[in-house]
Amino acid sequence: MNTQALIDTADALVADDKGILAMDESIPTCNKRFAALGIPQTEAARHAYRELIVTTRGLGEYISGAILFDETIRQQTKTGTPFIELLAGAGIIPGIKVDAGAKAMAGHPGEKITEGLDGLRERVTEYVQMGARFAKWRAVIVIGDHLPSRGAIEANAQALARYAALCQEAGLVPIVEPEVLMDGEHSLERCFQVTEDVLHVVFNQLYMQGVMLEGMILKPNMVLPGLSCTRQETVDEVADATVKCLKRAVPAAVPGITFLSGGQSPERASAHLNAMNGRHKSHLPWALSFSYGRALQQYAMEIWAGEDANVAEAQQALLQRARCNRDARRNEYHVALETSGR
Ligand code: 13P
Repeated sequence: MNTQALIDTADALVADDKGILAMDESIPTCNKRFAALGIPQTEAARHAYRELIVTTRGLGEYISGAILFDETIRQQTKTGTPFIELLAGAGIIPGIKVDAGAKAMAGHPGEKITEGLDGLRERVTEYVQMGARFAKWRAVIVIGDHLPSRGAIEANAQALARYAALCQEAGLVPIVEPEVLMDGEHSLERCFQVTEDVLHVVFNQLYMQGVMLEGMILKPNMVLPGLSCTRQETVDEVADATVKCLKRAVPAAVPGITFLSGGQSPERASAHLNAMNGRHKSHLPWALSFSYGRALQQYAMEIWAGEDANVAEAQQALLQRARCNRDARRNEYHVALETSGR
């Protein structure tokens, strides 16, 4: 393990107020998003859409790294340039999703366990040879009446830690993503309690598995009320609760925290990040950044709608969201600026 190289990559992923673009939707997830917009669910459409993203000029000004899916990391543009080469040329560090998805967990109705540890050592070795420098594994935690269970939290945390250790052994910076889902009627307080609990268990496992904290990135959910909760806190309340929770559970050795957007609107995801940085940045040991999927891509995908003629406009929409989140890291994001045609 080249310790310094891991630290350098982790630091670079959160440097210069840039953030990470998650474009690693699995084939079923990408197809689901396409279906909702009437876009054909074909390999050709997924290829065209990913080409739109990686050929967006100027993306590297705001985006430090892009997480790819196995299908995408092997693809190239119409003119024959591998996507991974294009990203690296734009100063964007290529990353790869290596989990095999969250599956129903035996003995735990309503809960999921992320699979993909078998053969992971061989897979990460191949990705390193292809040029990937970091990886992602997502665990899913559900809040419900008697959920999450200890069993689901412990099993998912252990899998995250084993994945992270294998990545570091191969020279990949692991993004450790324990996502407490927003679905449900639960309160912000309940999300706080579950998120804190999950993070403590995850960091305990990371410690036990010998993961070097300086060479990893944490990708958590923000502390939010459930989507169906009647009480929806203000942006500042969410920012304060999220930072309070993270301060309790995330060691100072971790260089950066890059949030997932998890179903928040693009504007809300930017506003929350902006408020966290504006209100707390000077007192925090880690960078607070973004690793958004939907909150970066949603408008671009809608505008593109599967039509070549819309590519340039869709790329502008992607660039705009990337810029907004860079601004949010600087406490310079204002919803009002979004319509001012900057
Ligand atoms: P969202 O920002 O759409 O939640 O996606 C981030 C991600 O990578 C989930 O694994």
